[in-house]
Amino acid sequence: MDLRVDPDRLRADFDALSGIGGTPDGGVERTTFSEAHLAARTWFHERARAAGFETHVDAAANHSAVLPSRSPGARTLLLGSHLDSVRRGGRYDGALGVVCALEVLRAIKDAALDLPVRLEAIDFTDEEGTLFGTLGSQALAGGLSRDDLASPRGGRELLVAELARQGLTEEGILAARRDPGTIAGYLELHVEQGPVLEQAGVDIGIVTGITGASSFRVVFDGDARHAGTTPMDARRDALLGAAGFVLGVRETVTRDFPGCVATVGDVVTEPGSFNVVPGRAILQLECRAADSVRLAALEVALTQRAHAAAEAFALDVTVKPVGHWEPAPTSATVRAVFADAAAALGLSTMELPSGAGHDAQSLAAITPSGMVFVPSIGGVSHDPSERTAWEDCVNGANVLLGAAARLAEREQATSVEL
Ligand code: GLV
Ligand code: MN
Ligand code: MN
Repeated sequence: MDLRVDPDRLRADFDALSGIGGTPDGGVERTTFSEAHLAARTWFHERARAAGFETHVDAAANHSAVLPSRSPGARTLLLGSHLDSVRRGGRYDGALGVVCALEVLRAIKDAALDLPVRLEAIDFTDEEGTLFGTLGSQALAGGLSRDDLASPRGGRELLVAELARQGLTEEGILAARRDPGTIAGYLELHVEQGPVLEQAGVDIGIVTGITGASSFRVVFDGDARHAGTTPMDARRDALLGAAGFVLGVRETVTRDFPGCVATVGDVVTEPGSFNVVPGRAILQLECRAADSVRLAALEVALTQRAHAAAEAFALDVTVKPVGHWEPAPTSATVRAVFADAAAALGLSTMELPSGAGHDAQSLAAITPSGMVFVPSIGGVSHDPSERTAWEDCVNGANVLLGAAARLAEREQATSVEL
């Protein structure tokens, strides 16, 4: 059967969603549990109900739309991504995967197919890490502990306040775990967010594995003193330690860790004023590597670098881990299914690793999990100028549909191998 998504319906949804939290520069801002994020989630459920699907919200606030199966005891095939965004983000990151997942459910319902799996389109909570990072998908996969929640990326106070504001609890989040025996697999469509597919002139990327990442809050402490009366040689200027460290991070990674990346994404100084020597500098540091051994070595090297920068300017420093994501290979079965689906549509494919983190990383621990990428124009992402040609979005949606149907067929015969 020649199953296809409805490109006009998909486009109408994507455009409507892009307007929720839309910014004048063509991007979106939907940080976790912001008004715009909550509105986008409500919109998703309304669209799902309009199409006749059941909707659910779990104890980690993951939002789902479900197309049931008539097969008794059918397992669930999850299709998803996230509707939250980074600050001043792009409209495709995460959102495209959610609207395409919903469109896949509609296309299967329209074709009156009864699959031997329960199909669930899911919008995971806080993928981007305003609060924690892949919070909802890790909760569903049972990958969280109380200790993890004690030192979240956005700070403990913010997490506690936001959970309370949403009527969520840590107990609930830890209990949102699903029995892996009930899940048949996880498929995610996403924009590549890098230049590889566009440069290669390839339609569809099949993801081989997802990068590991670690984040740290680095704090340099010196002395806040009068900026006019404190001699240059009598200062303990925390921002000098931070500046030395930022340059040192780049030097260490480029010299000793080819293929890895590290970023200082934010620096805040205290008290923060023209006429006071900075007494404290607080930095957000993140590093990524494709394998755990390299990631661990990179963490050690960057921590040493922070101590060296502190020593050079007579400062104190603390390096606090606030998030760790293990690298995750995707399932060979799912990769093969994506390749088959793309080939049947006459689309070119290539395999590539993902340097971005994704919810598929959490799901890989419990179920056959995989991703397809569509090309990002200019490789730009996490910016309002993020774009993907519409034809590529439709191609991706059709590959997701074909893969879901193929994986469901295999479900009839046997359970899928990781
Ligand atoms: C998610 O977008 C990440 O890789 O940080
Ligand atoms: Mn994303
Ligand atoms: Mn992102």
